[in-house]
Amino acid sequence: AISAFFSTSSSQSAIKNVMVIGSGLMGAGIAQVAAATNHQVTMVDQTNAILTKSMRSIEKSLDRVAKKKFKDDTEGGNKFVADTLARITITTEPNTAIADTDLLIEAIVENMRTKHKLFTDLDNAAPSHTIFASNTSSLPIREIASVTKRKDKFGGLHFFNPVPMMKLVEVVRTPETTDDTFDALFQFSKELGKVPVSCKDTPGFVVNRLLVPYIMEAVRMLERGDASARDIDTAMKLGAGYPMGPIELADYVGLDTTKFIIDGWHEKYPDVPLFEPSEILNDLVARNKLGRKTGEGFYKYD
Ligand code: 3HC
Repeated sequence: AISAFFSTSSSQSAIKNVMVIGSGLMGAGIAQVAAATNHQVTMVDQTNAILTKSMRSIEKSLDRVAKKKFKDDTEGGNKFVADTLARITITTEPNTAIADTDLLIEAIVENMRTKHKLFTDLDNAAPSHTIFASNTSSLPIREIASVTKRKDKFGGLHFFNPVPMMKLVEVVRTPETTDDTFDALFQFSKELGKVPVSCKDTPGFVVNRLLVPYIMEAVRMLERGDASARDIDTAMKLGAGYPMGPIELADYVGLDTTKFIIDGWHEKYPDVPLFEPSEILNDLVARNKLGRKTGEGFYKYD
């Protein structure tokens, strides 16, 4: 029995301890889902105030999940929420916890220099087996990985907002990502209860490459006065079966995020008309109307 036990070496590569860097909308969602599926999670951010706020939003989201999962079983639901929260440790200092980390997922600001600084430091601190992944929406994974000495153990793991609800994970491999790394990321996504798809390291991977130009076309339609925001959204919901229309989706994703993606692509591919910037979008972002998270974007929220 003992030899049989030792021969099941598949657990060697299994991911148990996860570190999530960045506790914003995406990072908190990833930490939540990983903890809810029995992983030990360390969530890292710059201040304890940010981390405490993220823990509160995780708790709120878990309550919604529990209500559905444990309909008439209040006790079971409470236990699920408490157990999940207990599996999340928060810290502003990743270098200690990294020693036990199997998988590190970065979900910080979309800035290449900031990501490079982070990954350079963590690459030095992390044990050799630790897999590194980025949840970037639009930056090349290969360029992010370039500052590390573990390009073979580096991939993209792209989640969707709201992470607890959206079933998809895009698993992105670069030419240097090994099969073992890719398989571990793919398997991990399944363990989270998600459906992984395999993507090459191309701008926007699959979803954002289709979704962002679509959102921008809707914004241009609005700019031309072809239809109102409400009518565009209603049209796509009732005419194409989307859960949200493109304008409300832009508010939901965040107008800063949408602008960041489109500006980056426009700079790289100035001749692609689908990546043209939009004045309305630029103006809203300049006035800090970033969508749902700031209470106003294309629409007002209370
Ligand atoms: N945590 C837990 N549960 C949540 C939740 C959250 N954050 N947000 C929504 N839910 C649950 C609700 O509790 C509700 O549960 P119920 O069915 O038991 O009532 C259920 O989801 C439905 O929510 P609502 O009734 O409030 O609203 P909707 O029916 O409109 O569903 C939605 C909400 C799931 C967000 C749906 O509108 C949707 O799928 N929208 C499109 C989202 C999308 O396209 N996301 C991708 C954006 S692109 C991206 O993220 C990539 C990045 O790189 C930019």
